Order: sequence, then structure tokens, then C-alpha cells
Amino acid sequence: MTEVQALQASTPEEVEALRIKYLSKRGELASLMNDFRSVPAELKREVGQRLNELKAVATERINELKAAAAVGNDDNADIDLTRTPYPVKLGTRHPLTIVKNEIVDIFSRMGFTLADGPEVEDDWHVYSSMNFPDDHPARDMQDTFFVEAHPDIILRSHTSSVQARVMEHTQPPIRVICPGRVYRNEAVSARAHCFFHQVEGLYVDRNVSFRDLKQVLLLFAQEMFGADTQIRLRPSYFPFTEPSAEMDVSCTICGGKGCAMCKGSGWLEILGCGMVDPAVLEANGIDSTQYTGYAFGMGIERIANLKYQVRDLRLFSENDVRFLEQFTAAN
Ligand code: PHE
Repeated sequence: MTEVQALQASTPEEVEALRIKYLSKRGELASLMNDFRSVPAELKREVGQRLNELKAVATERINELKAAAAVGNDDNADIDLTRTPYPVKLGTRHPLTIVKNEIVDIFSRMGFTLADGPEVEDDWHVYSSMNFPDDHPARDMQDTFFVEAHPDIILRSHTSSVQARVMEHTQPPIRVICPGRVYRNEAVSARAHCFFHQVEGLYVDRNVSFRDLKQVLLLFAQEMFGADTQIRLRPSYFPFTEPSAEMDVSCTICGGKGCAMCKGSGWLEILGCGMVDPAVLEANGIDSTQYTGYAFGMGIERIANLKYQVRDLRLFSENDVRFLEQFTAAN
């Protein structure tokens, strides 16, 4: 018995040889079984038991040797030792990208196409072509970043510059949305940042009216914030639109009853809009006697804040994974 337990073999061939020697039909155990017939009747019970034990021990030992020989075997050579040993973690999209994609998607379904332009711009596309007078405060160093030694070259402070770039080389009908990063010379705090993101829209064609603008913005608000969302337009002023308005949506938290989010008013301001000033159309080579248009612009951070209730704007640009991994999106 101990002899069987001490059997040794290191290759699969050696193990097989042992198996044949002990366990095969002509093996030693089989011949012991044969001899069993001649065992006197009174010993049969004990000898039978011993034989069965021996067979079990031999089988177990040979299986053990077989397993050990297989580990050293080249069957395992194709295991990839460079593979990452832990489950690979997938990244998530940035919340601003998620919201931007959602906005772009909604307007795309209404026939708007994407337009893009440079972040480092000239005064003409950011201000002059947009009907800002020379002494407009937005042109001030307090609001605008200038490229040193080139007072005409600035970081764009709104994506209206992309609208100017589209108009200067396209005749109506024009229907574009321009998402992008913009820069303003502000002290960084929880509520303001020196850069943020906007989506602006422009539609120029024959007979475009304020009614069209209102309808598109209502559809947008309901797609973005839910079918029950209401909108409210308040008169406002922008150099490039006339008339101009600011749009509020019914509070996304209380639905209009008044809560901390909307400071009791029931409304949340989300964008600026208006009819494109004829002077802007003319400055960009579009005949204002033939065409009219509307434009709107919103901050992506603002929309993301309403959607996710982010308390501090700085979180969007700090790249803290504990913040970022909370956001998931299908697109
Ligand atoms: N350009 C404006 C801004 O940056 C937004 C806006 C766009 C307002 C188009 C009206 C029309 O604040």
C-alpha cells in the first residue's frame, strides 16, 4: 500500500506506463483480483476489502501524478502572461460631452447641421461682424482675453463667431448649430469660470419669424427637460439680435411651484435668443431685404447643472475621476 502511495512519475508517458503496470486489464491489480478466487472462504471478506482499498489508492495516486505532469506540460504555453489581471475598467463620457451630444442630437433631428470654427479668433468674427459698437464693454480687457502684441487676435468669448464664419461663405437657407468652448476673463469661482462651453444656433431663410424661433425652442425644451416643460420669453438685449429675449424653462425640480433650485420663482433661465439684426446679415454678405433669421445661444454647463445639479462649475474641469465616473450615457 505505501509502495503504491510512493509511486513517482514526471512526464505523462511515465504516468501512462504506471497506469498500464498497475491498473490495466493485465496489470498487477487485475492479476491480484484473479488470485482472489483461490483465497480461502473465511479470509475472502478481509482480503476483498484490502484489494478494493489498494485499487482506490493506486487510482488516486496515478490521477495525482497525471495532473502534476500536465501542469508542467506545454498545454499551458498559450496563457497570456501580459494580460491585465483585473477586470478592465471602461471610461465614461464627460458630463459636458453627454449634454452637448444630447443638445446636438435634438437640433439635428430638426434639420440643423453642425458648424465649427477656431477658438483663437479675430475681432471681426467675434465682435464687429456681430454688430458690437467699438466702445461696447464686452470688448474690454475685463471680459476678453487678448493675444499679447496682437490686439486684433482674441480668444472667442461666444460661438457667434462661428455663425459669422458660416454666413460669410454660405447663402441662405442656413440652419446650423455651433457647439464649442469660449473664454471670458472672469475670476474663477463656483459660479463662474474663465472658460465654458456654448451651443449657438442660427437659422436664416426667407420669411423666418419670431414664431418659428419660439416653436423650435419649445420643442427643444420639451425634448431636453421633459414633455411637460413650459417656456417663457423675457425681453432682453444683444447687439446682434433685434428683438432679443431670454428664455426660461419651468423649474426642472418643482415643475413651477417654486423651490430652492428656482429660488421660489418656478422658472430657470437657460438661453438668450432673438431675430438676427439686419445689420449683422448685411455685415456678413446676406441681403437683409430678402432674408430674415433667428439665433439662440446657451451655456452647456448651465444645462448640465440643471440636469445633474452640480454645485461647483470647477468640477467640470478638474478631471477628478470620483466626479467623472458618476456619469454614463449611451451616446
Ligand atoms: N452670444 C450670446 C452670448 O454669448 C448668446 C446669444 C446667441 C444670444 C444668439 C442671442 C442670440 O451670450
